[in-house]
Amino acid sequence: MCGIIGCVAEEPVAGILMDGLRRVEYRGYDSAGMATISDRILTVRKGAGRVSEIEDRHRLSKLKGSIGLAHTRWATHGGVTDQNAHPQASCRELVAVVHNGIIENYVALKKALAADGHRFRSETDTEVISHLIESEYKKLKDPLRATLAATKKLKGQYAIAVMFQDRPDLLVGARKDAPLIVGVGDGKMFLASDVLAFIEHTDMTIFLDNFEVVEISKDRIKIVGRDGKEVRRKPTQVAWELSDISKSDYAHYTLKEINEQPRTVVGASVQEDGKVADFARAIRKAKSLYVTGSGTSYHAGLLMKFRLNKEAGIRCDVVVAGELKEHAAFLKRGSVVVVLSQSGETADVIDAVYETKKRGAKVLSIVNAAGSTLARESDGVLLLNCGPEVGVAATKSFTSQVVVSNLVVDAVLGKSRTNGIKELSEAVKDALGTEKKVLELVELYKDRPDFYFVARGYESPIAMEGALKLKELSYIHAEGMPASELKHGTLALIEKGTPVVVINPSGDHHADTLSSAEELKARGADVIGVSDVEDEVYAHFIRVPKVQPKFAPVVEVIPLQLLAYHTAVARKNDPDYPRNLAKSVTVK
Ligand code: AGP
Repeated sequence: MCGIIGCVAEEPVAGILMDGLRRVEYRGYDSAGMATISDRILTVRKGAGRVSEIEDRHRLSKLKGSIGLAHTRWATHGGVTDQNAHPQASCRELVAVVHNGIIENYVALKKALAADGHRFRSETDTEVISHLIESEYKKLKDPLRATLAATKKLKGQYAIAVMFQDRPDLLVGARKDAPLIVGVGDGKMFLASDVLAFIEHTDMTIFLDNFEVVEISKDRIKIVGRDGKEVRRKPTQVAWELSDISKSDYAHYTLKEINEQPRTVVGASVQEDGKVADFARAIRKAKSLYVTGSGTSYHAGLLMKFRLNKEAGIRCDVVVAGELKEHAAFLKRGSVVVVLSQSGETADVIDAVYETKKRGAKVLSIVNAAGSTLARESDGVLLLNCGPEVGVAATKSFTSQVVVSNLVVDAVLGKSRTNGIKELSEAVKDALGTEKKVLELVELYKDRPDFYFVARGYESPIAMEGALKLKELSYIHAEGMPASELKHGTLALIEKGTPVVVINPSGDHHADTLSSAEELKARGADVIGVSDVEDEVYAHFIRVPKVQPKFAPVVEVIPLQLLAYHTAVARKNDPDYPRNLAKSVTVK
């Protein structure tokens, strides 16, 4: 889950690569590096640390040359060290490679190459690729063919960009189960793992398919398939703009994206005619129905299941994407799998999609990234329309997933349209107004070792989402669960001052959840109520506006997002780049 960018141009590229590197840093941020060729000398500069630290130490932006590669890393094989950072070069810097993914057979390949005299300097799987390409290049003398030959020996996942010291006019790229995009510019061409890396220069893109290998020069593109035959691909325009990825006046992307939600919930409700109805028709006809996703997207899937079961009387299994294979007994021709994902590149999700297709079932996806692997592999796609989400913690994408899922369920229920979006947008604005109260709670609880979130019924996934947000941004241990489960164990952990957030809208479960709050209070917990109705059992109360029950999770999650964000800031964490995580989890 690294960030790759490569560029070949008429002008010096170090500055262009530096800007691109900063934009893909959310994909992995434990080390970074860059390599360029100038006067036929290939220079590599890299190290452990954030992009800004590496720039301070190595002045990457001062590298010379109109061709170059850059990379930001999320370590898989080999610790976070200067030597293990990318680019990884072969013997005598003949070939340099940046890589996103995991090479499963790298140990065997390394042994064979070492026996041929190759000398390795890092612990990475990636360095093996540079030596392998070098050895093929010596035989084939053609950068594209050498890369194709080398990739045929790789097992695992890879998106790579490759530079050849004696060919300062071209870059080569290849992909299998990790995203790689060609950016088609005017007098400059790009290879990147994300359109955000080059969106400032061009919005014309070619999303490479699995096993394709591409050669780019500053004004030419050549793509071949696994059989070595040329493939013609037309560039397509992406809908995102540079303005979409500025922080504007906010301190962090995460805070900006939380505050975009009054607008993005409206955007999510605008879907192409007939597409929602198509989803509904397929779901009604399905022999068996699954909903899947990872992390926050899985929580949105739980909400969708709840309404499909309870209101539409449609049985469906919600399974975390990484476990779908284990629960696929009923997945067959005629089955439908609804897949939720912000990035559309999460490896567990892509794996689940391939499993679904292998069994002849249909894939319907609700996704944010239009050109992603998930969108291109799906039989039907509904887009979130919430713009690029840079903060690692999913916020606006989650509320957009809830809106789109509700459109689909309403259509399954035969409703021609979904009302209340305007009111929902107003209610989200109100919910953002809880920030002042949230900041008081942050002061009180920012140093607590544990936090619990509980709710009942339709709200239970919001308890799980609140805990996930707090964990990933503040690094405080947090658990989210149905309130009914407290008595079966977790209550043992409750002691004087333990903060427990109780999400409890007025409605079917209100009284039962108040009883759970009483049981918590009786054991010394500081009960924090999130609801449209206050009650004296709450030590602290966060009022959220009353909305249609199907939309309540959208307003209830807002103060929980703010709690996680402001606790992270109070604990001096970087909310945009939480430790050990990355925005798009492209490794299994
Ligand atoms: C959520 O804040 C996390 N970033 C993570 O759990 C995320 O939801 C998960 O990795 C799934 O990502 P996706 O929606 O892009 O597939």
